[in-house]
Amino acid sequence: MRNDPIGLMDSGVGGLTVLKEIQRLLPTEKTVYLGDQGRLPYGPRSAAEVTAFTRQIAAYLRQKHHIKLLVIACNTATAAALPTMQAELPIPVVGVISPGARAGVQATRNHQIGVIATAGTVKSDQYRQQILAKDARNTVVSVATPELVTLAEQNDLVSAHAQEVVTQAVAPLKNQGIDTLVLGCTHFPLLRQAIQGAVGSAVHLVNPGTATAAAVTTLLDYWNLANDQSNDQPTAVYYTTGDADRFDRLANQWLNRTPVQAIPVTIQTLERAMQTTEGE
Ligand code: DGL
Repeated sequence: MRNDPIGLMDSGVGGLTVLKEIQRLLPTEKTVYLGDQGRLPYGPRSAAEVTAFTRQIAAYLRQKHHIKLLVIACNTATAAALPTMQAELPIPVVGVISPGARAGVQATRNHQIGVIATAGTVKSDQYRQQILAKDARNTVVSVATPELVTLAEQNDLVSAHAQEVVTQAVAPLKNQGIDTLVLGCTHFPLLRQAIQGAVGSAVHLVNPGTATAAAVTTLLDYWNLANDQSNDQPTAVYYTTGDADRFDRLANQWLNRTPVQAIPVTIQTLERAMQTTEGE
């Protein structure tokens, strides 16, 4: 159990921003990552549909890799499915919203916090609720910026076009007095430079992936699940339901690891994994 991998899932390459933090903090842990690019974007989909996809992916990662802990490295899926997955799975399940909200609360000085996320995450109101639950003095301004997911998936991160799209998308946050901006979609840290350029250097950007990785280390210790074979070669396995070459290009650029070679997996395989679980 302790030497089994940590599983991570996202609709695409966004969750790699969480994986990178986990690999940095926990270099001896094995990881297995699934990007559901064949069904991206999750943002506009209903919570019920996103929950169904999350369930399938969890079933697949458990059957195929016997994961010891699942990180829902997607804010939209966390908003839709975290309590359900925590209730259904016999392993610890970690989402990104609670760690992200806490990091935002810790960072702000003037209690004016901005959140950019997908339509699904904004609609769920989870960030606002969790930020206020941690400190009711805060005011939260949330803006849906789905166009940033498209940029990140196209690996268009630092071009003049990317800067223009990002500047337009975050324009509603101008003159709101925010001193902290939570990047409430795991794709957005890929666009950190353009986002910082658009909101100005005085605004502190929060990547929930950093706090999520810290939460994972605590949970592994608490459940006595940390890998105890320090000489074990850490391995990372990647799957995508989309184009593996496109996935590899971005992942190789983003992660400082040995070459990434994603394994293609079909949506039917994920659906079948879920059906097998139901039949148990
Ligand atoms: N990366 C995902 C998130 O954190 C969502 C992107 C999408 O599929 O819309 O919400």
